[in-house]
Amino acid sequence: MNRHTVKDLIKLKSNGNKITAVTCYDFFSARAVQDAEIPLALVGDSASMVVYGYDTTVPITIEEIILLVRAVLRGNKSSLIVADMPFMSYQGSVNKAVDNAGRLIKDGGAHAVKLEGGSVIKNQIAAILDAGIPVVGHLGLLPQSINKLGGYSLQATSDSSQKKIIDEAILLEGLGVCAIVLECIPASIANDITASLKVPTIGIGAGGGCDGHIQVLHDLLGLGGGQYPKHSHQYEQLGVRMVDALSRYKNEVESGSFKV
Ligand code: KIV
Repeated sequence: MNRHTVKDLIKLKSNGNKITAVTCYDFFSARAVQDAEIPLALVGDSASMVVYGYDTTVPITIEEIILLVRAVLRGNKSSLIVADMPFMSYQGSVNKAVDNAGRLIKDGGAHAVKLEGGSVIKNQIAAILDAGIPVVGHLGLLPQSINKLGGYSLQATSDSSQKKIIDEAILLEGLGVCAIVLECIPASIANDITASLKVPTIGIGAGGGCDGHIQVLHDLLGLGGGQYPKHSHQYEQLGVRMVDALSRYKNEVESGSFKV
């Protein structure tokens, strides 16, 4: 089975093909992502919330992400596996950023890393790329900064912030990132960025005009306990179906009708 590479992302964009991406955190769902022929799987720091049960993406550690990346690699032989660099694994220093990106690639087995931010972390991104590690950028809503932002709201709403995010996207492309996630920004700005870049944009809450889309697996499958971001789609209600299946099992055990 051939694995998608970072080069495929640019090819997909230049051929006018849309890129499907989804988050993924374990062996079982990694196999489903492979079988659905989805080219990009992100071991996102959203695992902090949907796997580990924290309130935000802030607490997850690099060790917690590495374990998930390994499981995803075992279950999926065809998608490009991108690993999120967790909060404070790269912001503090360039050396730390390169060391931690290296751990995600060497210890975890990821093929690329994703970092949140633009010019503020340009030295980190450049050094990680210099080390031979592909980087996916992430602009717009940066959930790791939730304590500064105070909420998960639409970003780039003023003229100055719109100009800034376009400049940041051009800067990231100049540094050499292989794709840029655009989260929760107006569709018109995402479209402008998409048209200005050769590298693909992958949108989440950024309208329909990006080169690709990414969604959180638990949101897509209806595993979010009834609470979903506005920009998500539920193609199934697996959470409800799981409770139903488990309740039927329990009823059979308790009534004495369960037999092997
Ligand atoms: O961790 C994550 O799920 C993400 C996506 C929202 C892009 O970074």
